[in-house]
Amino acid sequence: MESAMIASPRFSHARSTNQWLPLDLKPQVLCPGKVRKTHGSGTKNLASMRVRCENREDGRLEIDRRQLLLSSSTLGVSVLTSGKAMAMPYPAPDLSKCTYPTDLPTCATVEGGCCPPFKEGETAVDFKFPTSMPMRTRKAAHLADAELISKYDKALTLMKKLPLDDPRSFLQQGRVHCAYCNGGYKVGSDTVQVHKSWFFAPFHRWYMYFYERILATLIEDDTFALPFWNWDTEEGMSIPPMFTNKCSSLYDNNRDPCHQPPIRLNLADVTSCDSGDVSANYANIYSHMVSGAGTAELFHGAAIRYNAGTNTLSAGALESSPHNLGHRWSGTPGNPNREDMGSLYSAGKDPLFYTHHSNVDRMWYLWNNTLGNKNYDDKDLMETPFLFYDENKQLVKVKAGDCYDTTKLRYIYQDLELPWLKQGRSLKKAGKLIPKPKTSTFEKAVGDKAKNLSSPLTFKVERPNKSPGKGQVEVLKIEGVETDRKVFSAFEIFINYPEATTTTPFNSPHYAGAFTTIGHGIMTEGSMMSTTTKESFKIGISETLEDLGIQNDDEILVTLVPKSSKDLATSPITFTSITIENVSK
Ligand code: C2O
Repeated sequence: MESAMIASPRFSHARSTNQWLPLDLKPQVLCPGKVRKTHGSGTKNLASMRVRCENREDGRLEIDRRQLLLSSSTLGVSVLTSGKAMAMPYPAPDLSKCTYPTDLPTCATVEGGCCPPFKEGETAVDFKFPTSMPMRTRKAAHLADAELISKYDKALTLMKKLPLDDPRSFLQQGRVHCAYCNGGYKVGSDTVQVHKSWFFAPFHRWYMYFYERILATLIEDDTFALPFWNWDTEEGMSIPPMFTNKCSSLYDNNRDPCHQPPIRLNLADVTSCDSGDVSANYANIYSHMVSGAGTAELFHGAAIRYNAGTNTLSAGALESSPHNLGHRWSGTPGNPNREDMGSLYSAGKDPLFYTHHSNVDRMWYLWNNTLGNKNYDDKDLMETPFLFYDENKQLVKVKAGDCYDTTKLRYIYQDLELPWLKQGRSLKKAGKLIPKPKTSTFEKAVGDKAKNLSSPLTFKVERPNKSPGKGQVEVLKIEGVETDRKVFSAFEIFINYPEATTTTPFNSPHYAGAFTTIGHGIMTEGSMMSTTTKESFKIGISETLEDLGIQNDDEILVTLVPKSSKDLATSPITFTSITIENVSK
């Protein structure tokens, strides 16, 4: 049969950098009411193991969440990384081989799975840029007039009424995210993953493009443009009103009840019911858009390549914050994984997701057009194919590099004030400057030994070059970061501020940025499973050093402040090293 393709290839959180455990290391608990599945006769003595239970006739896996601890074994790594050479762009996965997601959070089930309604023999056509479509302007959702609100409501109502096996239906649109992010597809032996790498921005741009085009076609209005959640301005920091009207198709009940308007997005504490501090949010956005994000890698995330053997996942500043935090803040604590928005497999079920991503996309647009930054021009990224169903139910193949210029897709963003850009740096500089601490009392964080981030930790970091050349950016590299796949993990990064705590505001000259993750699940692949993700994180620090007046220092202190304190006892965050490198813009 023909193999049509869908979506983008990507790399699993697993493989080269991850910790995998063979399933034949038998777990010690039974599966009440289910068939206990045993694999071989493993004899390794691991202190604790997760149990793998087979659930029902469909063979879906169910993991018993009572088994909470994870061995730090590195078993399996070599099995999964063997023999790779010659990096290249990922090919598209075979749509006909889509499976039930292998990377779901505990307790999560996806009725009917996440696969698209692919028909045997179906093939993808190459995307053609629209030629006769009007230029559309995506507008801020909180400023939308009655006409736009009613258009969107009408279009989404129609989308929700489409037969469930229509690839344009709302159910299928939501599944797109689940399949690409939770292990529905494989390319070779790699699990497709569109987060934590350079695929994040282009994949989601194309995704929003088709979602928007389907809505426009349903109401026969080519001027329809997806509104964006303007969380980067004080007036737009709450959930936009059009999404909180219970009678509207834009409503979703699975949102945090204490994060309803007028409560503002709180980037400092996504689970608190307190309204976010506007200045702190601006400083956070500024750090992830400007001071920390001066290169393509810093903003977009790491390169990953097919056949590379040792890809290291690393989310860019765009993905880390506010993106991840916005997800977490929006979903409800009433659900085990803060579904809908709080988990990747379910996020696409909430209409708010698409408007959140419209602003994430706008951040990219601003990073290019207003801030003048250049995207990756690497063919391995630009030639990467993604496949989507378009507004005519046609399977279409697009390339990551073809969406860089939104005007070719016939849309731009409403031109608005950018208070975080105007005020971000001065807000940070106006914060408390603490005297330079003695560095001699702190250790260096180098080498492979895992350090447990159960509370704030400070390390001395040497600067390889005190006067980086023109056009160079000084980058802080935190490597070997290992987090529990099931939970939200985050730490803030401060420079020369060993006393920093979870309540130290972002509008501090010492604040550099944040590492964040959204909980996924337990990854299962064949006979292996993984409960943690290993990745790295990079953030630009040149401007922060300048603001602190320490450009001539030989070494700095870096303090990592873990945020998810509640989870840290059972799900520690560890990392191996912190170093500095100078990179060209
Ligand atoms: Cu695919 Cu907001 O994530």
